[in-house]
Amino acid sequence: MNAPIVVILAAGQGTRMRSRTPKVLHDICGLPMVAWPVAAAREAGAERIIVVDSPARPLDGRLADDVEIAVQPEPNGTGGAVAAAADLLDADRPVVVLSGDVPLVSADAIRELVGAHAYQRAAATVATTLLDDPTGYGRVVRGEGGVLERIVETKVGGDATTEELAIREINTGIYVFDGGALLGALPRLRPDNEQGELYLPDVLSLLREEGATVAAHAIDDPAIVLGINDRVQLGEARELARRRIITAHQRAGVDVIDPASTQIDATVVLGQDTVVEPFTILRGSTVAGERCRLGPGATLTNVTIGDEATVLHTYGIDAEIRDGASVGPFAYLRPGTLLRERSKVGTFVEIKNSDIGQGTKVPHLSYVGDADVGDGSNLGAGTITANYDGRKKHRTTIGTGVRGSVHVSYVAPVTVGDRAWTAAGSVITDDVPDGALGIARERQSNIDGYDERRAAQAEPERT
Ligand code: UD1
Ligand code: CA
Repeated sequence: MNAPIVVILAAGQGTRMRSRTPKVLHDICGLPMVAWPVAAAREAGAERIIVVDSPARPLDGRLADDVEIAVQPEPNGTGGAVAAAADLLDADRPVVVLSGDVPLVSADAIRELVGAHAYQRAAATVATTLLDDPTGYGRVVRGEGGVLERIVETKVGGDATTEELAIREINTGIYVFDGGALLGALPRLRPDNEQGELYLPDVLSLLREEGATVAAHAIDDPAIVLGINDRVQLGEARELARRRIITAHQRAGVDVIDPASTQIDATVVLGQDTVVEPFTILRGSTVAGERCRLGPGATLTNVTIGDEATVLHTYGIDAEIRDGASVGPFAYLRPGTLLRERSKVGTFVEIKNSDIGQGTKVPHLSYVGDADVGDGSNLGAGTITANYDGRKKHRTTIGTGVRGSVHVSYVAPVTVGDRAWTAAGSVITDDVPDGALGIARERQSNIDGYDERRAAQAEPERT
């Protein structure tokens, strides 16, 4: 059998979302809504994937390179949307139609539908399901012997009778057509309905009237067919997508301790035996290797993590954490942070645009920005790089095996050599040579007998 061409309808206005953003571009777990059916189509082995966009082309640049775009000149209904892609279709191939607003359709469901369609030698097969609350969906009207007669729309009143509104079997908006049959029927659609639109489901009754086989194929999983028309349904779809993503990670060997409080984008990659602790949010292109411990309470966006790293209570974005590094609790990793192998960034530490060497430690209460720190160095509590002079950012260069001590400011641009030391409380403005000790602070002087002198002055009693 020929691989299908998949057409995804996404040119509708989505008025029920009440949003400036086109409906199919709303985010679901890190991907725009329309990217979900695209991914399912690809996984199901589509020959080509065509997305139907509106004339303003809001989807331009938002879809993968293997996706073709057809433009529907006016929003004249789902039938008009498929007709807009007619030139790209092939009479000899099955055409699968999906909706950009039915995002959780799975590759398995598409394959199953295409299989059922071929088996029945149907001209068209529509996926249907039973819903307890079918409000807003097109209802499946079956005639004698249970054969599918037509689909009646219910988005606005007037198309469906009261009896039809009581039907719980709905059109999922997922179809397979014989390419030739579809191309023959599309020009015969008429907008003689309450919305004055060309309804794609009317193709089914047109084909049936010609005596062609029109089949209905039941899909039992209501998640797969959830259509998003408003933000409540968007929230439901997100929840289902979130669970689906977590389940896939669990099956692949990731330990998600508390799925209910965990969010993982569809784009995130996690290695085997990595543990995701509660209240952890992994976004964008975040990738973690094996045997890591992420969280509790880590929010990581586009963070690349090696194997066996630990990241507790951390907010990180556009950063890299290499094998065996340890971060947090309560660290902030900003863009351009590189934490090399086995380095440590501890509590209340902020790192920005800096390279922290192998095994180097920044354990407590520090800000390191625009710095390059070599291997095996230790920057004590309260280390601050003064990287900004009010006009420009400057770099701090700290060598290998440096002992930084506590409460030290490095005023950039400044270089501290290998195996150098800096004394506690220093403000380092000049370079420190290799192996030297840099001290930059006022000498302490002690006033002997001070307490006795105070007492002799017969102060008023302290209260
Ligand atoms: C549609 C079906 C309904 C089905 C439901 C399943 C029709 C007439 N009705 O209803 O039977 O139960 O889906 O979710 O097909 N679109 C365009 N151009 C247009 C109009 C719509 O590209 O001119 C796109 C939309 O972007 C959307 C999809 O087609 O992705 C469905 O359109 P929508 O208006 O949401 O149809 P429903 O009322 O949900
Ligand atoms: Ca819809």
